[in-house]
Amino acid sequence: MNSKSNKKYWDSWNSRYSDVWKPLARQEMSKKETDYIVSKIPSKKNPRILDIGVGNGRILAALSKKSTRNTTIYGLDISQKMVEICNDRFYDNKKIKKIEVCDLSLDTIPYKTKFSLITIIRVLKYNSNWKKMLKKMYDQLESGGGLVFTMPNNQSVSIFSGDTFSDQNTPIIYTNPSNLKKVLRSIGFKNIEILAFSKLPNFLYHLSNHKYYVRFLIASERLLETIFGNALFGRELFIFCSK
Ligand SMILES: C[S@@+](CC[C@H](N)C(=O)[O-])C[C@H]1O[C@@H](n2cnc3c(N)ncnc32)[C@H](O)[C@@H]1O
Repeated sequence: MNSKSNKKYWDSWNSRYSDVWKPLARQEMSKKETDYIVSKIPSKKNPRILDIGVGNGRILAALSKKSTRNTTIYGLDISQKMVEICNDRFYDNKKIKKIEVCDLSLDTIPYKTKFSLITIIRVLKYNSNWKKMLKKMYDQLESGGGLVFTMPNNQSVSIFSGDTFSDQNTPIIYTNPSNLKKVLRSIGFKNIEILAFSKLPNFLYHLSNHKYYVRFLIASERLLETIFGNALFGRELFIFCSK
């Protein structure tokens, strides 16, 4: 997978990416994800946050809404279109200082500041050198700073989805909790926490908007979580770790 093809793919998704989050069940999932992410905003005087792979601004919006007035937020994306969408959407947002184009698989983070929190949600799976990207984020965190990121779990039903992306049908990258812990420890990360918000296949989240169906789906996830815990068989793993 080359950087040009990744960029082209996301430029073509453009504002349509928001549609992925429109079904009711996906909105429920998004709420669980963003509640978790914002719970990691450090309670300090002037937090500095970086969101990498801003997309249409789903994570930026949550970070901005749930952070204190003194927070400064930066963003990055490989896609010019995504950066334009977010710059339009947040043009009068006082906390969001800058959103720039950057391919983190090739370049270093273009901001001089050290961050208290970096988020990179549903991004690393499109980048074969995701481990090197994690090291770049580690270097840009202040001491004690936190990172929230996601990776698909090869110990889940997702592995059967055959998910690919780009005009070259590149398969997305999978890992699992034990490999993640090994990778993160070798970089220097500590306090590693891994969990997931769904175990059932993604297509079920797009099947119907009927409220009873959505309630049944969410209740089924809750039951599976009670039986297996919140990481085992989870599809998209959410990882928090700190420097
Ligand atoms: C699936 S979307 C996720 C958007 C957002 N994080 C969210 O969860 O709603 C993936 C985003 O990551 C961006 N991306 C992929 N590879 C990247 C890279 N190497 N550097 C920066 N951004 C990247 C894409 O352009 C796209 O906007």
